[in-house]
Amino acid sequence: MENIRQPMIVRVAKQEDYAKVIEIEKLSFPTAWDYDFLEKISKDIFLVFNGQEVCGYLIAGCCHENIVATILKIAVHPEHRRKGIATNLVHKLVEILKDRKITEIDVIVIDGCKPAILFYKKAGFKTVSTIPQASNDDLHEMKLTIG
Ligand SMILES: CC(C)(COP(=O)(O)OP(=O)(O)OC[C@H]1O[C@@H](n2cnc3c(N)ncnc32)[C@H](O)[C@@H]1OP(=O)(O)O)[C@@H](O)C(=O)NCCC(=O)NCCS
Repeated sequence: MENIRQPMIVRVAKQEDYAKVIEIEKLSFPTAWDYDFLEKISKDIFLVFNGQEVCGYLIAGCCHENIVATILKIAVHPEHRRKGIATNLVHKLVEILKDRKITEIDVIVIDGCKPAILFYKKAGFKTVSTIPQASNDDLHEMKLTIG
């Protein structure tokens, strides 16, 4: 696939984006979040990358007395990966969080999800702890300081 860096078209998600987000969710995860869960969990920050259509999204929430934000989900449609879309979503998140004076972003990634680990490393996240799992699919806690 052609690796064209797309212009940054990241905006807050609207209700009408949910169908496309769920489609990407199903293509990206073995257990996809459904409409009701998506609505429940995306109350704080829910961004979509809108090219010709919605092709990526990021959901995050702020906690720990508004010092830390957590990325709950990020995914890009398989046909649009490696074009910088997830990077654009994280850049927009950082912009929003800096305005809120939040200084740190964290995320938990499973070991089996190598593209995600490589993506977060490229974005500047560092692994701060590893939580062993019986399945051997260890969980990595990764952090990015933005303050
Ligand atoms: C992880 C994911 C969100 C990355 O999205 P993306 O838009 O393709 O990422 P970007 O194009 O912004 O990638 C930026 C950098 O991350 C790294 N990267 C991303 N995907 C990679 C892959 N499959 N293999 C190796 N490195 C990768 C590269 O360094 C890349 O830079 P480059 O293309 O110049 O080499 C996407 O692969 C995805 O949706 N995966 C399925 C869902 C998932 O696992 N989400 C994370 C857990 S919540």
